[in-house]
Amino acid sequence: MAEPWWKSAVVYQIYPRSFLDTDGDGVGDLEGIRGKLDHLAWLGVDAVWLSPFFKSPMADFGYDVADYCDVDPLFGTLADFDALLADAHDRNIRVLIDWVPNHTSDQHSWFVEARSSRDSPKRDWYVWRDGDPDRPPNNWKAAFGGDAWTWDETTQQWYLHMFLPEQPDVNWNNAEVVAAMHDTLRFWLDRGVDGFRIDVVHAIGKGEDLPDIPADSSAIELTLFHDYPRTHVLLRDIRTLLDSYDGDRTTVGEVYLLSTAKVAEYYGAGDELHLAFNFPPLHAPWDAVKWRRRIDRVVEEFDPRQAWPTWVLSNHDVSRHRTRYGGSEERARAAAVLLLTLRGTPFLFAGEEFGLEDAEVRTDRVVDPGGRDPCRAPLPWEPAPPHGWPTDDVWLPWPPDPNERNAATERADDRSVLHLYRRLLAARHNSPALSLGQFAWRPGPDGVLVYERALDGDRRVVIVNFTDDPVAVRLDDLDEGVVEVASHGQGEGASYSGVVPASGAVIVR
Ligand code: NOJ
Repeated sequence: MAEPWWKSAVVYQIYPRSFLDTDGDGVGDLEGIRGKLDHLAWLGVDAVWLSPFFKSPMADFGYDVADYCDVDPLFGTLADFDALLADAHDRNIRVLIDWVPNHTSDQHSWFVEARSSRDSPKRDWYVWRDGDPDRPPNNWKAAFGGDAWTWDETTQQWYLHMFLPEQPDVNWNNAEVVAAMHDTLRFWLDRGVDGFRIDVVHAIGKGEDLPDIPADSSAIELTLFHDYPRTHVLLRDIRTLLDSYDGDRTTVGEVYLLSTAKVAEYYGAGDELHLAFNFPPLHAPWDAVKWRRRIDRVVEEFDPRQAWPTWVLSNHDVSRHRTRYGGSEERARAAAVLLLTLRGTPFLFAGEEFGLEDAEVRTDRVVDPGGRDPCRAPLPWEPAPPHGWPTDDVWLPWPPDPNERNAATERADDRSVLHLYRRLLAARHNSPALSLGQFAWRPGPDGVLVYERALDGDRRVVIVNFTDDPVAVRLDDLDEGVVEVASHGQGEGASYSGVVPASGAVIVR
């Protein structure tokens, strides 16, 4: 049986506010994305994941959804979305959208109704508790600081929010909520989307009693260890719903538990999530030992379940990997080789293909309550300001060196980071071993990871040098070995020399 598309796919995350603006308000929009589909097709991505573009008061820049089934005017219209989906499909690019089921906006009509009175038919759609206005019902802390409870003066009860007070948690123990949420999935599946990235999916199941967490963990953000059996029941129903559609519709869940063993459980027995993000590697420093340990954890926990891994270095919630790895372009390039040759589905964050670093955001320009503005800087498409945008008055400052690190300049230079990503994507697509093959370590010197990917007679060896010095790595059984891709761009197509440059990586065929 053919493998589902999402196993061999490379997925590209778009944060719509930052991708490209077309209407001149300084905030990206759906038409901006549609206008750059040719860039994505040229790059070679198989799918895009669009961060939320739904109606929202934007307290959390769209992760506070006020209507799951409509587009916020800031981003366009439903017709714009349909046009984007059709044009993406014409280029064989699949589209995943971001589904935010753990909480709504406090402006969602469900919450407005629930909040209006204790007798509201929707009261139980959210999580309310009696109590003393001076003492929250338990010791849970919200993700962006403060208690996870807000006192509602009108109805004299507390409501739960694991994130901002403007993001009340939905009560998934209520059958009407489950049905309404399923309807929102059907709405988009019927329109033709290929699947969903599911926001903080591990948080949706909650017990009826919400006990204190142990005092020594209570300062830690709750979402990092919230893990209730009920979520697995809910996920099985969501899986059944998706599987009732044709076309291998898929889910990738944001399971923000920092235990790879726990993350693996969210694949169930192949009947829960199709894919789950596993964040420990993303939080690993640029260090061969630490990376090796995290890769081993994935092999140990995922393989026995036949769970297909995911790999990610950057997204809209963390500092870009180039910045985390000290700003070094060499390291960022070598990391791209690593990301795109491990066994599993890689996720790129728009702009990493330009080698972008985080923007410097002065205090007076800070807009995100969670401190994540720097990685969300707008993407430069052209060298001259306003960098292909209709205005220079953009919602966040540009990332460093936009006149050099931008799509047009890098496209014209085949030594650029952009061309490296393109060659890596092509190498992956042309090699069954790289896209679907088995993974095995090979011996290597300290500070270097050497591994092999193989499938049906196709084989690649990958060497990633995490050190700041050139290293000699012999591949004795590969005397005919040819360098297919080199992070530094030299020697591709020639025999492997036996030495990998400082902070460099190669794929040998
Ligand atoms: C995870 C998202 O990635 C993040 O951006 C958001 O703030 C929270 N979930 C809350 O929805």
